[in-house]
Amino acid sequence: MKRLRGLDVLRWWLRMDTVRVQSRVMSDDLLRYRSEFPILEHTTYLISNSLGAMPRGVYDAMKGYADTWATRGVRAWEERWWMLAAEVGDQIGELMNAPKGSVSTHQNVTTCQAVVASCFDFSGKRNKVVYSDMNFPSVMYFWEAQRDRGAQVRMVKTDDGITVPTERLLDAIDDQTLLVPVSHVIFRSAYINDAKAIIDKAHKVGARVVLDTFQSLGTVPVDVSELNVDFACGGVLKWLCGGPGVAYLYVRPDLGRVLEPKFTGWTAHENPFAFQIGPIKYTEPPYRFMNGTPHIPALEAAGPGLKIVREVGVGNIREKSKRQVARLMELADQRGWRVNTPRDAEKRGGTVSIEMPDSQEVCRELLKREVLVDWRPKAGVRMSPHFYTKDEELETAIAAVDEILKDRAVMAR
Ligand SMILES: Cc1ncc(COP(=O)(O)O)c(C=O)c1O
Repeated sequence: MKRLRGLDVLRWWLRMDTVRVQSRVMSDDLLRYRSEFPILEHTTYLISNSLGAMPRGVYDAMKGYADTWATRGVRAWEERWWMLAAEVGDQIGELMNAPKGSVSTHQNVTTCQAVVASCFDFSGKRNKVVYSDMNFPSVMYFWEAQRDRGAQVRMVKTDDGITVPTERLLDAIDDQTLLVPVSHVIFRSAYINDAKAIIDKAHKVGARVVLDTFQSLGTVPVDVSELNVDFACGGVLKWLCGGPGVAYLYVRPDLGRVLEPKFTGWTAHENPFAFQIGPIKYTEPPYRFMNGTPHIPALEAAGPGLKIVREVGVGNIREKSKRQVARLMELADQRGWRVNTPRDAEKRGGTVSIEMPDSQEVCRELLKREVLVDWRPKAGVRMSPHFYTKDEELETAIAAVDEILKDRAVMAR
């Protein structure tokens, strides 16, 4: 038999690699979850960076909630509801390698920031808050407002509207820095911040990091224990398909045992049902970081999405997401549209921001055509495939944009 020469071997290997990629694409195992999401039957759903698709299990969860309330009445608190906030916190914690009991649940991320802020005093010498202008605006508004409470706030600006200048951010973190609230993945561009470098620098000078993992958890691996981050927070309504009304706050266990949030309430009391008069006596985490009556309906709605995402596995989601985002970029490049998302797959999350001509109007037209995406200033149209997205849907969405732009060109004549 003729021996294979070096070049033949390379060709054979490349052919086999193509076959391997094709078969993985064709047998996209994760598509088996599509039937769990009713909206996928009639839309091209590329908007999980904003609101993840609703799992059909939420119908049962909501019915279960109503039945419990209707039949068990006030007994529901001790039979199920009181513990739910911590149970859901643990389910979320599992996704980011947080120890049991270290994740409390809240209504939104802004509230989580407020809980963290209330653990600290801004009247001393260490009162600086360093953040990036690429943070989500609500988080920025919150910290800017803390100037009135004595915080010295320092915003580090982006150079290109896509990335965060890591070196400048690190330089801004000095021995007067108290807190560094930063996004893990940037909502506008999907840039992945160098969380490890930020945390290491902050710890070196005695500062604490509040990592906003809203745009990472569920699509990019997050390991709070390995990162050794002080606080991490986010919500479940995007990549975790958990619906609005549930946010989570991880507090590193050693801090959780000693911090005393001043934004507090009876849920954080060591004996809430004693209704004692006077100052709070803090209980242990996670309830230590909560305050008033928990948001039960939202906690019930979050369960089915969290279960599916845990089952699918963030590693699998990430692998597929990288491939599909790359395909969307390729399609945008072919048309000469500007891509406002990092080119390096390791430096971007699950979203691609595309600035085609008239992008805001294009977005509106796409929604009318059942292609669900959104538009943000300085970003363009944001498209976010998730584990339930078919490869064909990427082509469908871009073909719809082509059609819209063609129609607009005809009308402009
Ligand atoms: C990174 C990030 N943080 C926070 C939020 C929202 O904050 P909140 O839960 O307070 O509405 C969003 C988007 O909605 C976001 O993308």
